[in-house]
Amino acid sequence: MLNKTVRLANGYEIPSIGFGTWQTPDGCTAIRAVKEALDHGYMHIDCAAVYGNEKSIGKALKKSGIDRKKLFITSKLWNTERGYDKTLAAFEQTLSDLQLDYLDLYLIHWTANAKQFPNWKELNADTWRAFETLYKQGKIRSIGVSNFKKHHLEALIADSTIKPMINQIEFHPGFMQKETVDFCHENRIVVEAWSPLGTGKMLNNEILKTIAEKYHVSVAQLCIRWCLQNNVIPLPKSVTPNRIQENIDVYDFEISDEDMAAINEMKYCGGSGLDPDEIDF
Ligand code: A2P
Repeated sequence: MLNKTVRLANGYEIPSIGFGTWQTPDGCTAIRAVKEALDHGYMHIDCAAVYGNEKSIGKALKKSGIDRKKLFITSKLWNTERGYDKTLAAFEQTLSDLQLDYLDLYLIHWTANAKQFPNWKELNADTWRAFETLYKQGKIRSIGVSNFKKHHLEALIADSTIKPMINQIEFHPGFMQKETVDFCHENRIVVEAWSPLGTGKMLNNEILKTIAEKYHVSVAQLCIRWCLQNNVIPLPKSVTPNRIQENIDVYDFEISDEDMAAINEMKYCGGSGLDPDEIDF
C-alpha cells in the first residue's frame, strides 16, 4: 500500500501527488482547472511566479473555501529574482498573488549555472539565505530547489545551514536522472517530478501502452503510478476535467517489479531537452 503523503526531513507531510499548473493559461482556464483539481481531492497545487497564473490560482483557492491547513501550496522563485533582497521581494509578491499568508513550499526555480554566472555558487547561496530567513520566520513551511543536479546541490549544502527538503526535476520514463535522484534520496531530499507525462510525449509510447493495457489503466496513470513506486512525487498538469480526475485515481493498482524494471530501463524517448547546466534564461 502506498501512502498518500510523504514525510519531509523537517517532519511536514506533503501529499504524494501534486497538481501541475505550468502551461495552464491564466484567467478562467486556470481558475476552472484548479477548482476541478480541488473538487477531485488534489490538495497539493504546484505553482510558480513565471507561469503567470498565480493570481487566478489565488482566486480559485479563495473561492474553494477549503481550510488552509488542508492545502499544500508550492511556488517558485524565478531566475531574474535571484539574490537575497530580490528573493524576499519576489516571495511577498507571490504570496500576495496567491492571497495566502504563508507557503507550504518555496523552491529556487532553476540553479544559477556556470555558463551564465562565474559566481553561480555564491548567487545560489545568497538566494538560499533569503529562503532560510523566510523559513525561520515561519512564512514558508518547507524550502527546496528545482532543476538542481548533484553538483549544484553539493555546492549549496556546503554553503548553507539548512538542507533543501525537496528537489523538483524533470522525471518521466526514459529520463530518470538517476545520479541526481540517488543523491537526493541518500540525503533525505524528496524528489518531485515535473512533466511526469513528458508533457504528453509519453502517451503514445508502445512499451508504455502495452504495460498500461495489462493493468487496465491509461498510460498517464501508469506514468504517475510509476513515479510513486520510484518514491518520486508526480505533478501531472491538465486542464481537462476527466484527465484531472483520472490522474489522481492511481491508488488501486500496483505495477509489478518486472514491469517497473522494464519502464526503468527505457531509453530516452523525448522530454524538454533542458539541461540546468546549459540553460540561458
Ligand atoms: P491537457 O492539459 O490539455 O489536458 P505533463 O504533466 O507531463 O507536463 O503533461 C501535460 C500534458 O499532458 C498536457 O498537454 C495535458 O493536456 C496532457 N495530459 C495530462 N493528463 C492527461 C491524461 N490523463 N491523458 C492524456 N493527456 C493528458
